[in-house]
Amino acid sequence: MEQILCFLMLLLFSGASVSAAPTGSSYLSGTGRFWHITDLHLDPSYNQNQDPTKVCFSSKGAPATHAGLFGDFLCDSPYSLIQSAFANLAPLTQPQDFIIWTGDSPPHVPPDELSTDLVIQVISNMTQTIRQHFPNLTVYPALGNHDYWPQDQMPASTNAIYKAAAALWKPWLDADALLTLSQGGFYSQLVKPALRLVSLNTILYYGPDQVTANLSDPAGQFVWLEKTLEKAAQNKEKVYIIAHVPVGYLPFYGNTTAIRKVHNERLVSIFRKFSHVVAGQFYGHTHRDSIMVLLDQHGKPVNSLFVSPAVTPIKDATQEYSNNPAFRMYLYNNNKDYSIQDIWQYYLNLTEANEKQRSDWKLEYIMTRAFGLPDLQPQSLLQLGLSFLLPQTPTFHRYFTHFMVSYDSRITCEGRCKVRQVCAVLYLDQESYSKCAGSW
Ligand SMILES: *[C@@H]1O[C@H](CO)[C@@H](O)[C@H](O)[C@H]1NC(C)=O
Ligand SMILES: *[C@@H]1O[C@H](CO)[C@@H](O)[C@H](O)[C@H]1NC(C)=O
Ligand SMILES: *[C@@H]1O[C@H](CO)[C@@H](O)[C@H](O)[C@H]1NC(C)=O
Ligand SMILES: *[C@@H]1O[C@H](CO)[C@@H](O)[C@H](O)[C@H]1NC(C)=O
Ligand SMILES: *[C@@H]1O[C@H](CO)[C@@H](O)[C@H](O)[C@H]1NC(C)=O
Repeated sequence: MEQILCFLMLLLFSGASVSAAPTGSSYLSGTGRFWHITDLHLDPSYNQNQDPTKVCFSSKGAPATHAGLFGDFLCDSPYSLIQSAFANLAPLTQPQDFIIWTGDSPPHVPPDELSTDLVIQVISNMTQTIRQHFPNLTVYPALGNHDYWPQDQMPASTNAIYKAAAALWKPWLDADALLTLSQGGFYSQLVKPALRLVSLNTILYYGPDQVTANLSDPAGQFVWLEKTLEKAAQNKEKVYIIAHVPVGYLPFYGNTTAIRKVHNERLVSIFRKFSHVVAGQFYGHTHRDSIMVLLDQHGKPVNSLFVSPAVTPIKDATQEYSNNPAFRMYLYNNNKDYSIQDIWQYYLNLTEANEKQRSDWKLEYIMTRAFGLPDLQPQSLLQLGLSFLLPQTPTFHRYFTHFMVSYDSRITCEGRCKVRQVCAVLYLDQESYSKCAGSW
């Protein structure tokens, strides 16, 4: 029965003019849902100027020639784009849902255009805007590398921005969470009985962060993480990990981890050790839609990781492609292990929205259906990743089109581009990644 309903829902909601979420008690029995928004990057300077070089500071002087009501691919988000995302998302939510928000509110502009106060103002603006649209949902935030001034330079100790974040997020977080947030920019909180969320500050491990470069365990976060996961295991809890900068390798550069290699190795080994506790990992930062599957030392798939695409459509003038604005919903098994069952990915066709002066956010794809998977458990993601290895496989082209949030399906990814994508899906540590990258 559930399957038939599912199928009917898919029929109803498939195709281009779709903007709905699964509802109805049958579909939802035993299934929980939460939403993921990331990389809002508000550019308060955005305006539809006659002079395309003056549309937004974030284009850094490049002409934004397609500037419309909802933005331009050379600019960060105008406020109208962010509002349209939340206004379209809000009616899809249900009272028992929650939201994860993996950071980066300020625009991509040179440091002298911002200040600590301005960064706090933007985070405050985004926090209030989210609260206005979702007054009854709990939101679990994580800090991004732009949520600091100067950008990326997050310290391993308390400071004005961690404290401001703790004050702003008081309506959502408990006292223990607020304490570690104000001290180190990370926290853990119980979402519901037996489901815990851990929000990591991975900026402390981020290459450009010079103030933590020589520290083996900045802010003691690794020790804290291990302790938190041990305790969760003892209490028979499952854990969702959220953070801004992902663990693992970047899908668009060769042999480059998103965080420092040494910190990446440590994080991978912690996640392997506690893979029986972690039920899902959720990241942002790259602005693109990608997956990873964590394998243990014997090659057995043990964790599913998801990188959500951004709300901001920005690319720099030299890049071949960008992403359409996006947000997503996860479906999870609410009855037993909190494993991730599916993703419903929504997007705004920015070109069309500007043409029509209307923002019809649509369902882009449903992950299990797009790739013929039973669920999004580690074994299923491994099968998908391995299927990409086959020559001329249509699933990889689909994956790459979704990577860009349907920016342009004519752009292809072959040769070295494909090697980087596929090795990044399957291998998170240096030894296994190098083998993959070296074997093509
Ligand atoms: C947030 O910023 C936008 C654009 O800069 C402004 O229009 C809006 O009033 C601000 N909202 C809040 C809650 O501060
Ligand atoms: C939030 O909850 C209050 C009290 O239960 C209710 O009156 C209100 O309509 C809810 N708001 C939204 C946007 O769901
Ligand atoms: C880190 O170590 C390098 C090389 O020893 C040194 O040049 C740099 O100043 C150190 N950075 C900090 C923040 O201590
Ligand atoms: C987005 O809209 C443009 C302009 O209407 C259209 O050419 C393009 O095919 C659309 N993209 C998708 C993925 O629907
Ligand atoms: C990747 O970089 C590491 C050093 O960081 C190097 O040891 C390894 O050989 C490189 N692998 C490939 C495939 O280039």
